Amino acid sequence: MWKNVEAAPADAILGLTEAFKNDPRFAKVNLGVGVYKDEEGHTPILTSVKKAEKILLETENTKSYMPIAGEAAYGTEVQKMIFGSVCERSATIHTPGGTGALRVAAELLRNFSSKTIWVSNPTWANHNNIFEAAGLTVKSYPYYDAKTKDLDAAGFFDALENIPAGDCVLLHACCHNPSGVDISADQWKQVASIAQKKGWSALVDFAYQGFGESIEADRVGVEAFLASETDFMVASSFSKNFGLYRERTGALTAVAAAPADAETAISHLKATARVLYSNPPAHGGQIITTILQSEELSNLWKTELDAMRERIAQARAALAEGLTERGVPMDCSFMTRQKGMFSFSGLTKDQVNFLKDEKAIYIVGSGRINVAGLTPGNMAGVCDAVAEAMNQPA
Ligand code: LMR
Repeated sequence: MWKNVEAAPADAILGLTEAFKNDPRFAKVNLGVGVYKDEEGHTPILTSVKKAEKILLETENTKSYMPIAGEAAYGTEVQKMIFGSVCERSATIHTPGGTGALRVAAELLRNFSSKTIWVSNPTWANHNNIFEAAGLTVKSYPYYDAKTKDLDAAGFFDALENIPAGDCVLLHACCHNPSGVDISADQWKQVASIAQKKGWSALVDFAYQGFGESIEADRVGVEAFLASETDFMVASSFSKNFGLYRERTGALTAVAAAPADAETAISHLKATARVLYSNPPAHGGQIITTILQSEELSNLWKTELDAMRERIAQARAALAEGLTERGVPMDCSFMTRQKGMFSFSGLTKDQVNFLKDEKAIYIVGSGRINVAGLTPGNMAGVCDAVAEAMNQPA
């Protein structure tokens, strides 16, 4: 079977972690994959999660199959989290991670609506792969302006106005991955109104809720679409905000024009999930339901989430300051304006390779730095190395 087959390239993000693990150098830093680290460089299990797991250990009484859509209580909690309250014209299924949600969404689009999906330029490296694997045509719209290190507003809105009716547009709800450049509340309203006017649908990727401003403020884009009364879908990931990475915990929510349409939607969400993975892994969803149904645990979780966001903000400021002090040839203030885990640093491919080969510092080929991986222990070394990379003659 494999004799004449070419090996697949390593994954742009998770492949880096593999290379990092195999790197024998002692002083190495992984700033590739989007994983939160505390000041000691450890990815902790949140205390709220540990407490929920203790409850589950005592109360869980079966390992029988989950319902195809996951438990109803989970769907309810997910809707309250992404919309602020339950939405009667929507249907939610529990999926294996945000990636699972995106893949189910792609299958639904292919079968019932768009054969073409538009993604931002740039976007998360796996978006293209997921949508192409589901048989969609992937096109891109302008988003990031490398010169201003901000939104290319003219290019973005012009593209949205010209996307054909029936196509789908992938939008990042907050903490745009990889650029960290988000659109404002007014711009979201504009986007939702263009969608309504032009007749394209939206798939909102909501992987960083709570990492931008707060759980509530980060809903701004979803709220704009909800108000516009168009059909849209939301792919949620709880990897980052609950630190549940390896538990593969996500959800797909389809918002329909009317409650009756949501009934039809859930039947197809379930039929699609059944052929892809049958029913979701239980543990992560049960943790989230246990936390969100308890006032005490949800308050604790929010405090922990706030602390993660604040630590990242401090790391951003320290990185910008450290690079400025070292005389890098750019204004680093954009780093503190970016939202979420990442800083789109402007490093070139050669500079990224220099950092990996010469300094054992791993960042994604696009120049995306996982700021959440910077710690007091590695900050100075990273700043020295990045400054050296940037100050080298081209
Ligand atoms: C990332 O962008 O680094 C994360 O979303 C992890 C992943 O699966 O790529």
